[in-house]
Amino acid sequence: MKFFIDTANLDQIKEAQALGILDGVTTNPSLMAKEGITGHDNIMKHYKTICEIVDGDVSAEVIATDYDGMVSEGEALADLDPQIVVKLPMIADGVKACKYFSDKGIKTNVTLIFSAGQALLAAKAGATYMSPFIGRLDDISTDGLGLIEEIRLIYDNYGYETQILAASVRHTMHIIDCAKIGADVMTGPLSAIKGLLKHPLTDIGLAQFLADYKKGN
Ligand code: E4P
Repeated sequence: MKFFIDTANLDQIKEAQALGILDGVTTNPSLMAKEGITGHDNIMKHYKTICEIVDGDVSAEVIATDYDGMVSEGEALADLDPQIVVKLPMIADGVKACKYFSDKGIKTNVTLIFSAGQALLAAKAGATYMSPFIGRLDDISTDGLGLIEEIRLIYDNYGYETQILAASVRHTMHIIDCAKIGADVMTGPLSAIKGLLKHPLTDIGLAQFLADYKKGN
């Protein structure tokens, strides 16, 4: 399973990259705003900086909600760097724009997926990635991981190559469950990724090894 970090925070992206386990970055307009990155030029510059830090795919979301607007914004984003993946919303014009970009060989990520039907449409439009938001489904007492299972089954039934990018991952167990189900990618916060490191027996064992070493030296 690929690991993407879901943030526009450069320090966190650098920390995850330095761990050596990072496959890419996802952002969205809210994450950009959270870092105080506003205005078209600053946002474009920030995407470029992120591409310089990481080796993998960097999702950059369009703001337009009409087909023509999404196509021109998406083309400008894709021109920024070959690592850019054009992130499009799951609405009719977003599906049309996804088909346009996939026909041109430009990578896409269809976002705000909350149902198996939307997942089918994203695959049929040739999306590179599609992002079901598991945390936001959990927030409204709906089974987010259950949706990942449904989509995995459907995609495997037909051999769709669209990658399931489990998004809105909130904690470490989400990552483990996504891996069990067979999500292709997960995107989550640095805290959830670093949570995978933790086990008290690791800390106890290491302390013991170091104490024993000191006894003999
Ligand atoms: C996905 O690409 C989104 O940026 C993200 O995962 C949304 O997560 P949230 O529900 O924690 O805002």
